[in-house]
Amino acid sequence: MQQEKKVLFVCLGNICRSPMAEGIFKKKVEEAGLSNHFVIDSCGTTSQHSGELADYRARKVAQKNNIELQHRARKFTKNDFTDFDLILAMDTQNLFEIQRIAQPDQLEKVKLMMEFSDLFPAERNVYDPYYDSEDKFEEVFDLLNSCTSNLLQSLISNNHESSV
Ligand code: 4NP
Repeated sequence: MQQEKKVLFVCLGNICRSPMAEGIFKKKVEEAGLSNHFVIDSCGTTSQHSGELADYRARKVAQKNNIELQHRARKFTKNDFTDFDLILAMDTQNLFEIQRIAQPDQLEKVKLMMEFSDLFPAERNVYDPYYDSEDKFEEVFDLLNSCTSNLLQSLISNNHESSV
């Protein structure tokens, strides 16, 4: 890859979906030998859980897949629009919250994570498992695993196209 890509995953609390997406994507990037080409982070649209580690259920399913979630929750800030190239919202509520505070020229950086899913073409939201069972965390992990694979492929091929 020619250019560095800065990717930010965003959910509501930054303790379930977005830290899982961050951890999975970091691992894929590492395995592809591309860590030097990426900045990867996650945050939430609220500060409710700021400073906390990911929910224990998210950490458990990640650990089962050899991923250690060490991220501490933080809230999205306007600086993130300049610090990142791609801002991926887990659901439409997260998307609207981010779009609400974006300058018009920053809107193109903001997308839904589900745009990278080929499993559920009609679904726009990554399900919020917070009030649900551990099984739901497994399902969300699998969905994020698939989305992040497609995301990485898409970024690699776009980068390739823009470098030729
Ligand atoms: P996340 O899940 O947005 O995927 O981190 C949630 C975490 C906390 C809450 C809701 C969703 N909460 O209401 O505290």
